Amino acid sequence: MTILSWRVGLAAAVLAFAGHAAAQPATPRQQDSARQQVQQELVQPFNNAPVWRDVRSGPPGFTQVGAPSEQGVLIQSRGETWRQVRVPVSLIGGLLIALAMVSLGGFYAIRGPIPGGESGSKMMIQRFRAADRYAHWTMAIVWVTLAVTGLILTFGKTLLIPVLGHDLYSWLAVAVKNIHNFIGPILIVGVLWMIIRYLPYNWFNKEDFVWLTKIVGNLTGHEYPSGKFNGGEKLVFWFVVVLFTPVLIASGLILNFPNFGQTRATMQTFSIIHMALAYVAIAMACVHIYLGTIGQKGAYRAMRDGYVTAEWAKHHHELWYNDVKAGKVPESPMVSEAAVPEPVRRAVQLAVK
Ligand code: HEM
Repeated sequence: MTILSWRVGLAAAVLAFAGHAAAQPATPRQQDSARQQVQQELVQPFNNAPVWRDVRSGPPGFTQVGAPSEQGVLIQSRGETWRQVRVPVSLIGGLLIALAMVSLGGFYAIRGPIPGGESGSKMMIQRFRAADRYAHWTMAIVWVTLAVTGLILTFGKTLLIPVLGHDLYSWLAVAVKNIHNFIGPILIVGVLWMIIRYLPYNWFNKEDFVWLTKIVGNLTGHEYPSGKFNGGEKLVFWFVVVLFTPVLIASGLILNFPNFGQTRATMQTFSIIHMALAYVAIAMACVHIYLGTIGQKGAYRAMRDGYVTAEWAKHHHELWYNDVKAGKVPESPMVSEAAVPEPVRRAVQLAVK
C-alpha cells in the first residue's frame, strides 16, 4: 500500500468513525466530501481538511453509543466559539471582582468602618429570629463555598498552578469540582428558605430610592433614614437572591446533569450565562459581605446573635426603629438589656464600640 492510498484509507476511517459507517448508505454530501478528500490528497498530501470540514459540518452520522442526543455528532464546531468566548467573559468577570475587592479594601483603609450607634444603650432590639438567621447562614455558607470553588475552577490554572505546582493543583481542582457539583443543589433549599423569610421586608418604597441617591452620605456615617432594610440591601435581595441565584441554580443544573437530552449548544449557552452572572453576583456579594463584617460596626452580630442595640437601629434604620418603638413590629420587640442573654448582650455591645 502506498502512502497515498494509506492516507485515503485513513480519511475513510475517520469518516466512518464520524458516523458515516459503511453499513449506512453514503449521502450525496458524504460522497462529495470523500471525492474532495481524494482530490486533496493528490494535490496536497497529508492535508485532510475536507474530512474534518465534513466531520464539523454538523449533520449527525451513525453511532451505536446510546447517548440521549446528538450522539452522531463527533465534533461540534460551536464548541470552539464557546472556548473563545469564555476567555473575555472570565477576564472581564475576574477584573470586576478584583475591582470590587480593591475598592472596598481602599475604602476601608481610608475611611474605616461606617460609624454609628455607639453610645452605651440600655435597650436592645431583636432584629432577626433564629429561623431568619439559619436561613441566611444556610444560603450564605453554601453560596460562598460555590463562589470560591467556582473561582478556583475558572482562574486556578492561571493563578494557582504557578504557586502550588501541577500535582497539588490537580488534587485541589478535583476536590473543588466535586464540592461545586455536589453542594450546588443544596442552594435550592437555602435560597427558597431565604426568599420566604425575607420577602415581606424587601418591597421597595419611595424612601429606598431616596436612600440610593444619598449613597455617599450613607457610606460615610450620615445615613438617610430607612426601614428594616435599606435600598442597597434590597438591591442585593432582589438581584442576587431572587434573580441571579435561581438562574445560577437552573443553569448549574443544566450543566451538572447532561443526561436529560440537552445538546452541547444548550450547555455552552448556559455555561456562558452561568459564568457571567456568577461574576456580577460575586462582585455584589463582596460589597454585601464587606458591609456585613468589617464595613459596618454591629452588623455581623445582628445576623449572628439576632440582636442590635437601640442606638444602632436608630442610626442605621431609623424608620424601622420608630416603628419598633411605636410597637408596630411585634416580631422585633425592644427589650431591656437584662432580658437578653448575657453573652449575647456583651457581644452585641462590644461589636458596636
Ligand atoms: C460570609 C458571608 C456573609 C456575611 C458575613 C453576611 C452578613 C450579613 C448580615 C450581617 C446581614 C444583616 C444586615 C442587617 O442587619 O441589615 C445580612 C443580611 C442579608 N444577607 Fe448576608 N452575609 C453573607 C453572605 C450573603 C450572601 C452570599 C448573600 C446572597 C447570596 C446574602 C444575602 C443577604 C440578604 C438578602 C440579607 C437581608 C437583607 C435584605 O433582605 O434586604 N448574604 N447578611
